[in-house]
Amino acid sequence: MGSYTVGIDFGTTNSLIAIYRDKEQVEVINTDSGDKFLPSVVYFKNEKEVIVGNNAKAVEVIEPEFTISNVKRFLGSDKTYKIYDMEFLPEDIAYFIFKKLKTVFDEFAGSNNKVNAVVTVPAYFDHLQRESVRVAAEKAGFNVLLLVNEPTAAFIYYDNIYNLDKGNYFVFDLGGGTLDISLVESDEHFCKVLSSVGSTDIGGIDFDICLADYFVKQFLDKYDINLKEDKVAYQQLILQSERAKKELSNLKEINVVIPYITQTKNGVLHFKELITREQFKSISKNILKKIEQILNKFKEENEEYLKEVYNVLLVGGGSRLFLMEDFLNNHLKKAVRKNLNPEEAVVKGAALIAAMLSGKLEKKEFYDVTTHNLGVEDDEGNFEIIIKKNEIYPIKTSKVFTNSIDNIEEIVVHVLQDMAITTLNESISIKDNPDNFVSLGQFSMEIDKNLKAGDANLEIIFNIDSNGIISIKAKDLNRNIEKDFILKKTINNPNLETIDVL
Ligand SMILES: Nc1ncnc2c1ncn2[C@@H]1O[C@H](COP(=O)(O)OP(=O)(O)OP(=O)(O)O)[C@@H](O)[C@H]1O
Ligand SMILES: [Mg+2]
Repeated sequence: MGSYTVGIDFGTTNSLIAIYRDKEQVEVINTDSGDKFLPSVVYFKNEKEVIVGNNAKAVEVIEPEFTISNVKRFLGSDKTYKIYDMEFLPEDIAYFIFKKLKTVFDEFAGSNNKVNAVVTVPAYFDHLQRESVRVAAEKAGFNVLLLVNEPTAAFIYYDNIYNLDKGNYFVFDLGGGTLDISLVESDEHFCKVLSSVGSTDIGGIDFDICLADYFVKQFLDKYDINLKEDKVAYQQLILQSERAKKELSNLKEINVVIPYITQTKNGVLHFKELITREQFKSISKNILKKIEQILNKFKEENEEYLKEVYNVLLVGGGSRLFLMEDFLNNHLKKAVRKNLNPEEAVVKGAALIAAMLSGKLEKKEFYDVTTHNLGVEDDEGNFEIIIKKNEIYPIKTSKVFTNSIDNIEEIVVHVLQDMAITTLNESISIKDNPDNFVSLGQFSMEIDKNLKAGDANLEIIFNIDSNGIISIKAKDLNRNIEKDFILKKTINNPNLETIDVL
């Protein structure tokens, strides 16, 4: 049995696996269809078999109800997928994709190996989303060495191929489903993320949906038929919209044609619309506005850093969009140069980091920062920050809590992540702003019930490890008793044991 170390980019649209070869070469491993990209699409062929990749993507058009795509967007949520009387959580579906990547690797290297993996996640992923990725990869047979933020991995790759000068870099990563904007400081020996923002609600697919919805409206106006109510027709529109969006990188206008899109009592109808770059820009203005808002907030928060010289590095297939270069030039007042391989930079960076961790490549130190405030609910029901956003992790910090009432038996601590990035020192009610916070759990620790108010000393230790994953320990300092609160997820869907991944 051998041992390998790989990099994995689990993407909203495409997933990739790469391995470091000697002499600084990184190879993305081809899937069985001969492509480097494995579409992150899962098709339930029947109750016992799922197909992952190109084949699943092809079937999605005609059997959307048996096909799942974009699952990365729902990781960490309580969404459930119901197929053939079975229920699946997003991490179960992610497991199928990792399992297929494992097969791709096994076919390349043999199946009897230990495969250590560096797996990338969007910088903006919170604890629950990271845990979902970790468990899905582990369940599929990878030994996860480290979860690395996608912009950090991409930076390591660009640094490796371009030999980047010392300085600050602006990394703009627009993938299929996520946006990450990071500022990275680099010199010969280290790279450090200074600040990072983003969203798991903005990506290339939103442009496709926007264009498809525009086409639906055109068709409705022309024929009084709503194609959105026809799953197959709508799926075709999404697919052709994506194709048109990509073609607009080369062409000023493009015809979108879908023969036999629907049937009326007077015969079949074909779909045909011409779309120009100008029209596309206008149709997608709401998405661009959302990106602009995030960008402006980032510029505001990082005014000082951005004054210094910086270059722009583009990551993710979405950054190829024909209007992105101008959009960024205007907002950053910097010439944005097109980078090589925006879709492969993340996985190749992950493979380089994997090689560094296994001693095959000289190590460059890298430091990542937290992208959310971590805190607890105080006695008034407000959010109290314990670890701020943009702190370098791994990080450990603690706080001592006490009892506010005499003779209580336990102290309850409610731990939350702040998704709306609450301003420090501002009291925000958790109950009144439910969308701002994600609850990571409520922990209770028994205390001596004879204590008067204020006499308990309960130290809560918050730890964010090198994966960005949180764990919590409580210590009753009066009695020297400790308790660990593990926030780990597990996958225990029995259906996974009976389904083959093809
Ligand atoms: N030439 C192009 N013009 C516009 N968009 C493009 C082009 N080429 C690819 N894309 C878009 O890039 C996206 C896929 O990029 P990528 O493979 O980097 O995403 P991903 O890694 O799967 O997603 P994420 O990183 O958000 O999880 C798709 O939305 C695709 O339509
Ligand atoms: Mg990506």
